[in-house]
Amino acid sequence: MNTIYNDPSKSPKERTKDLISKMTLEEKIGQMCQIDGNENPELWLKERNIGSFLHVIGDEAIRLQKMATEQTRLGIPLLFGIDAIHGHAFHSGATAFPSQLALSSSWNPQLVEKVGNITAKEVSLTGLHWTFSPVLCLARDIRWGRVDETFGEDPYLAGSLSASIIKGYQGKDLSHPESILACAKHFIAYGETQGARDASESDVSERKLRSIFLPPFKDAVDAGCATFMTAYQAIDGIPCSANKWLLKDVLKNELGFSGFVVTDWDNTGHMHRLQKTTSTIKEACEIAIKSGNDMIMATPEFFENAVELVREDVVSESLIDEACFRILETKFRLGLFDHKRYPDTKKYKIFMGCDEHRKAAYDAALESIVLLKNKNNTLPISNKFKKIAVIGPNANDPQAQLGDWSFGPRYYPERPTLEYNDYDISNIVTILDGIKKRANSSFEVFYEKGCDVIDEKDKNIKTSIETAEKSDVIVAVVGDTIVLNGETRDRVNLDLTGAQLELLKALKDTGKPLIVLLINGKPLTIPWIKENADAIVEAWNPGIEGGNAVSSILFGDYNPCGKLSISFPKSVGQQPVYYAQLPGWHGGSYADMEPEPLFHFGYGLSYTNFEYSNLKTSKKIINDSEDLIASVEIKNTGQIAGSEIAQLYTNDIYTSVTTPLKELKEFKKVFLTPGETKTIEFKLPLLSFSFVNRNCKRCVEPGEFEILVGSSSKDGNLLKTIVTYGGKVQEF
Ligand code: BGC
Repeated sequence: MNTIYNDPSKSPKERTKDLISKMTLEEKIGQMCQIDGNENPELWLKERNIGSFLHVIGDEAIRLQKMATEQTRLGIPLLFGIDAIHGHAFHSGATAFPSQLALSSSWNPQLVEKVGNITAKEVSLTGLHWTFSPVLCLARDIRWGRVDETFGEDPYLAGSLSASIIKGYQGKDLSHPESILACAKHFIAYGETQGARDASESDVSERKLRSIFLPPFKDAVDAGCATFMTAYQAIDGIPCSANKWLLKDVLKNELGFSGFVVTDWDNTGHMHRLQKTTSTIKEACEIAIKSGNDMIMATPEFFENAVELVREDVVSESLIDEACFRILETKFRLGLFDHKRYPDTKKYKIFMGCDEHRKAAYDAALESIVLLKNKNNTLPISNKFKKIAVIGPNANDPQAQLGDWSFGPRYYPERPTLEYNDYDISNIVTILDGIKKRANSSFEVFYEKGCDVIDEKDKNIKTSIETAEKSDVIVAVVGDTIVLNGETRDRVNLDLTGAQLELLKALKDTGKPLIVLLINGKPLTIPWIKENADAIVEAWNPGIEGGNAVSSILFGDYNPCGKLSISFPKSVGQQPVYYAQLPGWHGGSYADMEPEPLFHFGYGLSYTNFEYSNLKTSKKIINDSEDLIASVEIKNTGQIAGSEIAQLYTNDIYTSVTTPLKELKEFKKVFLTPGETKTIEFKLPLLSFSFVNRNCKRCVEPGEFEILVGSSSKDGNLLKTIVTYGGKVQEF
């Protein structure tokens, strides 16, 4: 057919306009529907002209796309979405990267962009077009099950990394066959629910929302993120998918988001079924459309109800046109109508999980690992130890290592096992594999599982002790596992589970040096380990190359440089223990525990030492015409080269509403050879000194501001200077 919409020389807008003018109401509403591709896709294609499927893996994508483009009236291509949130990790053979939380410990936007870029390439090689990533929820209460999916607790760090990964996914040009759509989710304040209960209510005022939760999403819009996903929960009684102010006034109008909004899984149905805010599904569909959701995920009833609502004049067709326009324009921008994006089998063979991609996964894991303790330089292992006992349930567990959102879509059985699907685990280098390979013939390695992560009775402490006793050093690999992380997997207790602590105590009693390696989705309450281990290495869910990366660090081939993007509590009762606390806590401490976290946000050691000095600012009086430059000298005072992540926080000393005692505003990674000193500079526009006032406007008030620079958010690790703003209150 020779039409405008088929003409690649026309702009996506012109093509969309033309196509919409040719569509029936049913065809337009079909484009707004997204359904699990494993549930009767033919029906949805033939009878409902569906716009998008999710969770389709393998050749099925090709078959369905052919049907859509060749057997439907207008030949509108399908959009396939997938949760490729740390690599295309559902797809066997693809490169599974460290979890998003792990990646955020790298504080390295370029690295994160590269991860996004490789993920996009591998996703597109399987004929899919859209990843439901990045997660921009802030992990401020770590009892929440989905902490592993976040970039940590801080809005600035999360925003910077999100902008990078979005660039990585979407590339310079969306129509490039190896670019995919990113999706900023979950909009908004989903990590802030009461008691960290997944998808329960968030009590967040507009001021708090604009202060803390909106900034990373604004960064995503500014980075050109093509899609947004609404959060499951309600804020002040209004489900996020029913919040017109949030989706239309704030996101689309104020932030200028021009892509499309997809609901989360059955959000529309949840309004009726779970949140009970509508007495029928039909009313929920009406509200979803009127509130500004463009695509409806996994609410099958939407199609028929939406058609009826328009026919009955309850919903104006112009709202359907608007939603459909945003979706179709995105499909045109992706080039879907032109090159169809069928997977290239030749390229697939060359690039899927290729060495270059694995090398990137290895680099990502290296930079994500955080050294938490190293008493008397126990690490690196080097030649002082010859016999190594690797003991613990996570030493040789591919699934604990990859973490959530891997091994085939949506596997949430009671206890997932590798038998549930065809995922090929042979390309996963476990911690044990990595240590054995690196040890080669120079070290002897003994292995014992020791105990189970969950089942307290499933343990073998006696043989573990025997294994430890014939060795020079113990690497105990403990942590958590898949059933303790993810959606609906919130926790009341963050202690080590099963017999893991019993195992560690028995190992400690052998008197051998004890290195604890943590493989876990999120921070755990580990005061005993902090007190008793000789060294602690936090490796999170380090991905397919985790074993190689961990052993490079253990053996000293690589000097660790990761820093925590999230605070570790001493006890679960300290929640929330994020660093950006508000002043005014009466007494400032608990009756039964000090307020300090176990490990601070921003903390992480190296095999060398860094010294900060000479914090200066380009001027003492700040204004809006010129950025302030803060500079600091950092010296490597140790014996080996290494990288340090320097952090800059600000504190507006007196404000008309309470504001955090410090907030991260900039960070820089610097590489220093032994003895070397470098001066690094941070650029601070006036906006860096702003907060959101009682009128919900971001503003700068006159007064004094502290500038704090150092190696972590802990007071003792920061140098301080003061600058002043003498101008009038300025609103942005
Ligand atoms: C999750 C989303 C995810 C979607 C599709 C939902 O349950 O909350 O993060 O993208 O499922 O898998």
